[in-house]
Amino acid sequence: MTIQEKIEQLRTELNEHNYRYYVLAQPTISDFDFDMKLKELESLEKENPTFFDSNSPTQRVGGQITKEFNTVKHRNTMLSLSNTYSKEEIEEFITRAQKQFDDALEFVCELKYDGAAISITYKNGELFQAVTRGDGSQGDDISTNVRTINSIPLKLKGDFPTDFDIRGEIFMTLDGFNKLNEDRVELGFEPFANPRNSAAGTLKMQDSSIVAKRPLDSYLYYVVTKDQTIENHYDSILKASEWGFKTPQPDVDFIRKAKNIEEIWSFIDYWDKERNNLPFEIDGIVIKVNSFRKQQELGFTAKAPRWAIAYKFKAEQVSTILEEVTYQVGRTGAITPVANLKPVSLAGTTVKRASLHNKDQIEKLDLHIRDHVFVEKGGEIIPKIVGVDTNNRDQSLQPVAFIENCPECSTTLVRKEGEAQHYCPNDVGCPPQIKGRIQHFISRKAMNIDGLGSETIDTFVEHGLVKDYADLYQLREEQILELEGFKQKSTLNILKGLEESRNIPFEKTLFALGIRYVGETVAKKLAKHYKTIDALIAASKEELVTVDEIGDRIAESVVNFFVSEENITAINRLKEAGLQFAIEEQEGASQKLESLKFVVSGVFSKYSREEIKNLVEKNGGVIASSVSSKTNYIIAGDGMGPSKKAKAEKLGVTIISENEFEVMISGK
Ligand code: IVH
Repeated sequence: MTIQEKIEQLRTELNEHNYRYYVLAQPTISDFDFDMKLKELESLEKENPTFFDSNSPTQRVGGQITKEFNTVKHRNTMLSLSNTYSKEEIEEFITRAQKQFDDALEFVCELKYDGAAISITYKNGELFQAVTRGDGSQGDDISTNVRTINSIPLKLKGDFPTDFDIRGEIFMTLDGFNKLNEDRVELGFEPFANPRNSAAGTLKMQDSSIVAKRPLDSYLYYVVTKDQTIENHYDSILKASEWGFKTPQPDVDFIRKAKNIEEIWSFIDYWDKERNNLPFEIDGIVIKVNSFRKQQELGFTAKAPRWAIAYKFKAEQVSTILEEVTYQVGRTGAITPVANLKPVSLAGTTVKRASLHNKDQIEKLDLHIRDHVFVEKGGEIIPKIVGVDTNNRDQSLQPVAFIENCPECSTTLVRKEGEAQHYCPNDVGCPPQIKGRIQHFISRKAMNIDGLGSETIDTFVEHGLVKDYADLYQLREEQILELEGFKQKSTLNILKGLEESRNIPFEKTLFALGIRYVGETVAKKLAKHYKTIDALIAASKEELVTVDEIGDRIAESVVNFFVSEENITAINRLKEAGLQFAIEEQEGASQKLESLKFVVSGVFSKYSREEIKNLVEKNGGVIASSVSSKTNYIIAGDGMGPSKKAKAEKLGVTIISENEFEVMISGK
């Protein structure tokens, strides 16, 4: 087999496995085997750049930066749909459409996905271009970002038309959205308002490698083709599924044929109740005339097709009483007002609290304590107040007065120009800020200190053992043992975890410092660019903004962080404790095992156990001491404990030998 044939074979194989995993959710090989094949393809492509293909499965990780997206004219205008909220209007739609035909119309009911609309052109079975809706007649070419979405095929299978457009929706799953927002709030960014905004925002990001990490998914629901062999919409969706697209499937009732209003209504009624159990958001149901010939005869108005209509669900809303507004102080000092409500049942859960975001929001709603408020639930975990029943307001009620001092340390709050949030500026003395910073420092993505958890940090701070993260490295065994509930074993575990954290690479240490707006990715970019903390400290705002992806806001925040004497002192103490503040240009180092978790067990023939652990870390992997559902691989030697083995098998963790591990890090 020639190299080119080998490359082609691997690409076809990986595309098929990708399809089975992300579209069918029925993988037939282990993650490990998939990774090995991908790595093999990666190195073959690297050695043979002439065979580059923008639709190779290796391109899904992204990496390309788009400074400005090209504007592209849609060859078929992307129209919207007429909306309705009532059964009567659907009946009118049916009557109007039926009038043009003698034989009875058939309809197709589908979910109305709440994300960002996309039109993708495929030529000769390959993804050619993906364009946003834009103003309907032209949109942005976001192909590089769309290529990173695993459920979008890069190459098609079967009897696809040679040149066609397919439309659908790109969205974020609710789980993915909530996790993303938690991370954003941690970093001091405003959270995304809802999954739709976060999907749309992500698709317009310049760095496709960040897009690749975001939990985007898709459903394709409209094949635009002149192909006469497919007669109706329903069949076109089944066909598109055969070509490799993720399309609405009849077996889970995401798509269903209907003959009349009763059948349509039963679909609507079913999903109005069931939609809370979906892992993504829908905002209604779309009803389409099935026959393509009849669709053509019905045609379009200026704005929308006459052959389809969208029924929009009314957002579930309840009325309850605002009992109190309390305030939370975050790690960065940001103050978040929270509405405490009289408990009320909404969309299957009891609601007691609602987020209020900031002072402006409270003023906009003109909230008074003991107001009757309307509460709605969107994609967020915490619901929001959407309005006040002012007719029901007693004259004696007082408007909510936003606090002027920090609820935790009484310091006068500040609000920077152009920002919506109030902050407590007492970063060195305000308890939740102190605790929050240390908790961030020890967290998994930062210093990943085994044995230390949030509650332990709270105890340490409350007993005055630590005031900042640098104090952690001065902790002595007897100090911890004095505290209630700390035994020898857990104490030694903490000290061991701290000891091991000295080897955590610079980029993670930099992230751990908790500089506002400096998340994992930014920390990586800064570490790579400046190589040492001293070079970064010396950088001016003007220099910082020349680094890829670093804007004014991040640059300013970095400079401000290093202006603070307390922060410099803490960094110097961490340096003394032996933490990594420079990129170590190690021979054989790589990020091949980035964020993969390993457990090493047993006796090996080529390496000692410590050597294997070092190799894991040198290549960006993380070592854990016990097997859990988060473990990716167990590297097993002779005499691996039977309980570990049983647990691994139960959790479906892949067990590999030292030889397989060698292949993994060699990249061959
Ligand atoms: S069909 C010519 N089907 O809703 C009309 N649209 O409000 C083609 N949408 O822009 C659209 N789910 O972004 C269709 N199952 C579905 C849909 C759907 C969501 C979106 C789409 C469209 C908007 C109209």
